[in-house]
Amino acid sequence: MAIDPARPVPPVFPRLVGPEQVPAHVPPKLVRAAGITTGEAFLAAPHAYMAALHETMPPVWYDVNPYCNAWQLIKHQDALYMLRHHEIFSNEGATPFPRDPDDYFYFLPIEVDPPLHRKYRGILEPIFSPTGVLALEAKIRSLARELIDRVRDQGGCEFTTDFGRPLPVSVFLDLMGLPQEMRDTFVSWAVDLLHSQDREVMGRAMAAITTYLKEAIEEKRRRPDERVISRIAQARIDGRPLSPPEVFGYVCFLFIGGLDTVFATLNHIWLWLAEHPERRREILAEPENIDNQVEELLRVFSVTFSGRMVVREVEIRGVRMLPGDRVTAVLPACNLDPEVFPDPLRVDFHRPRKPILTFAAGPHTCLGAHLARLEVKVALQEWLARIPDFSLRPGTRIVYRPGGVVGPERLPLQW
Ligand code: HEM
Repeated sequence: MAIDPARPVPPVFPRLVGPEQVPAHVPPKLVRAAGITTGEAFLAAPHAYMAALHETMPPVWYDVNPYCNAWQLIKHQDALYMLRHHEIFSNEGATPFPRDPDDYFYFLPIEVDPPLHRKYRGILEPIFSPTGVLALEAKIRSLARELIDRVRDQGGCEFTTDFGRPLPVSVFLDLMGLPQEMRDTFVSWAVDLLHSQDREVMGRAMAAITTYLKEAIEEKRRRPDERVISRIAQARIDGRPLSPPEVFGYVCFLFIGGLDTVFATLNHIWLWLAEHPERRREILAEPENIDNQVEELLRVFSVTFSGRMVVREVEIRGVRMLPGDRVTAVLPACNLDPEVFPDPLRVDFHRPRKPILTFAAGPHTCLGAHLARLEVKVALQEWLARIPDFSLRPGTRIVYRPGGVVGPERLPLQW
């Protein structure tokens, strides 16, 4: 039965975990425990580990782990096939985020398949289109400058809390039509929700965000504006307004999808910049090449994955997958596929352009991709213009956090 986001009921999709729960059709030689996102090798150097998967693993394998067993795809071509065939690989029940079964909602538009998916996505497409996001550029630039000016004379900063986190939070508040005075509160909620190891702290943060966003949605219904929350609250699908869980599920997914991903991406890039002074100079020396520089950095330092459920039997590279199997496209590994990107870990700003999978592909291609590119571009331009020379504070040990969005936990910089 297709899902109905207007009247949500928790879906019943079994989550197989661990070596005991391997479906009978999976050949034993393809069962592995690679430790993607959790293993020691991954946490030591995530992107080097992702590149090495092309040597150490078969192109398709069935990964067993304590979170969710799934087929893993690391070839660029296979991931593209998965992402473009929703009639075989569905998004229903494919996201990992837990919710209260008594107050259930779907994350929109990510958890619905076409053709219904298009109707939800269409609501925000004008805002997130390349021309739509250009309208945000001046604001993003002034937010970035304000954050840099706060730390510029201090000789150093904790990049994560001084810039990497507040920038996407500020952009989110601006997009939604929420007050910038909420920035520090939102930053602390986002840190607790997305990075605390303590479930109680995470639960409290989620509750605070939920209460705040639900009230904000009500307020926008009373006093609408042109921003995202109002757009969603006023939108109609098939002639009816969206239900409260639909509006909340959409707003909430923007929060989850748009904060941590940009944050982690900025952290990776700034770590690399801190360690490569000559490459910083190269960026500054070729300002006209900024779009290629951003694209190449996004390719090498991609941070997240796409998950799907098989709904129709399919074969990939001779491997049979059956309805009910979960599949993950390991996008950071696909972006480092040496068949498509030779010498894949090398950051080459003059590489011939090919489609990167950082933002996935197909109908669910990241809705915020143009915005994310703009945020990274503005951050690079504004930061390097003001703080061209900086390095990692001596003695720093970079710790990567485990989880579905890969990134360094802290990044103390000095200049
Ligand atoms: C560098 C930053 C970002 C990365 C790496 C990223 C990555 C992704 C990926 C891989 C997907 C597809 C997931 C799938 O196929 O299952 C996705 C979807 C999505 N992202 Fe992003 N994202 C980023 C920034 C943003 C921003 C800034 C926003 C909005 C504020 C956003 C909103 C969304 C939405 C709404 C979807 C669902 C699209 C749909 O289902 O049609 N993302 N993102």
